[in-house]
Amino acid sequence: MWSGRFDEPVDERVKRYTASIPFDWRLARFDIQASLAHAEMLAQAGILSERDLADIRRGLAEIAAEIDNGSFPWKLDDEDVHFNLERALTRRIGEAGKRLHTARSRNDQVATDLRLWLRDAIDRIQALIRQVRLRLIDQAEAHAETVMPGFTHLQVAQPVTFGHHLMAWQEMLARDAERLADCRRRVNRLPLGAAALAGTSFPIDRAYVARALGFEGLCENSLDAVSDRDFAIEFSACASLVMMHLSRMAEEIILWMTPRFGFIELPDRFCTGSSIMPQKKNPDVPELIRGKTGRVYGHLLALLTLMKGQPLAYNKDNQEDKEPLFDTVDTLVDSLAIFAELVAGIRVRAEAMRRAAAEGHATATDLADYLVRKGLPFREAHEVVARAVRAAEARGCDLARLELAQLQAFSPLIEADVYAVLTLEGSLAARDHVGGTAPRQVRAAIARARAQLADAVRPAAG
Ligand code: ARG
Repeated sequence: MWSGRFDEPVDERVKRYTASIPFDWRLARFDIQASLAHAEMLAQAGILSERDLADIRRGLAEIAAEIDNGSFPWKLDDEDVHFNLERALTRRIGEAGKRLHTARSRNDQVATDLRLWLRDAIDRIQALIRQVRLRLIDQAEAHAETVMPGFTHLQVAQPVTFGHHLMAWQEMLARDAERLADCRRRVNRLPLGAAALAGTSFPIDRAYVARALGFEGLCENSLDAVSDRDFAIEFSACASLVMMHLSRMAEEIILWMTPRFGFIELPDRFCTGSSIMPQKKNPDVPELIRGKTGRVYGHLLALLTLMKGQPLAYNKDNQEDKEPLFDTVDTLVDSLAIFAELVAGIRVRAEAMRRAAAEGHATATDLADYLVRKGLPFREAHEVVARAVRAAEARGCDLARLELAQLQAFSPLIEADVYAVLTLEGSLAARDHVGGTAPRQVRAAIARARAQLADAVRPAAG
């Protein structure tokens, strides 16, 4: 493609080192889409004849069909996806194929392809996040009243419902969806028209191409258009947050599955056994989600580092943006898809959750609040309850199991009505405000989340 300027062919090792076709073939569908929009614009502007346009359309359609059925002959000699497609087109349709590259460069071409690819990936990821959220909401609804211990410092703190806990996860993913939607707006801008770096001397119509490709706007400065990879970095940061959330959820699933917790069971299809220890049922899937989070963080750092020393405008360094980005998307898509199924498969052992909540003096704060309502300052109430907890510990029972006379020894304010607040149900029902764990509030949160998810699908994606 550029041999006119060179005295000798490129060294074989250099060819292998610089080629990107082993991975960037994945951009082919979008490269074709962008080429079609570009060619139509060139024809509109009178830069390309209608006949050439017709040939280009036919040639690209044939190539797209070959790619789809797996028979397209990708060539390392043709370096990257752009050269591979252009040469194949020229082999097919001759002259017109050579005219397609008028008023563009691979620099604005690859930036365009990558944005189209990523936009499509974001849409797929959003659909999967939605799936996970729906599964979480379904489980939360089934367990809006199921008591479990809530933890701080991984110590039993206060009772919550399992539904409330799952809705916390749902909330994390709602923010992820919001972040990705915002990121998509900056992905969805058109670099094409920047050509190599300075723009082109042809009378192009960038707005036409943007419209044809569904972009919301243009990359306004040609130098920035070909060199900006912020959109990929921003996406990787969003992806890292999604994986961080999935990893936290996975970690809790792993804990809950250990026989010591015994809060949940996963269906066998998500677990593996041990080749030596017959009793084992290992949570490989959540462990791998937790593990794969590392590679996604790694890709974010790789992309940031890739960009930090680059002068304007395009540099070959940028070719290194693809593999991290592709792997980030692949990892995220697989992890979300499997996590959605995993969530649906969770079987709750409600009696084990309740037992754990009833054992850790989880209603101690409720007793303190009770004393405050009877007029004691909170700090004093805290002190009184702490002493009562110690007494319960000494007797080897939960605070809620102390007898009235025993409790009254710590404060004369305590009366028989105390047991209404010391029970798990009493504690839950008392937290009856927006964001609280009262079953009524959990159901309200579920209704809000369902309404939000219904809204999210109504307007067509821009
Ligand atoms: N394969 C290249 C990449 O991925 C395409 C752009 C090449 N441009 C250039 N001037 N060498 O970045």
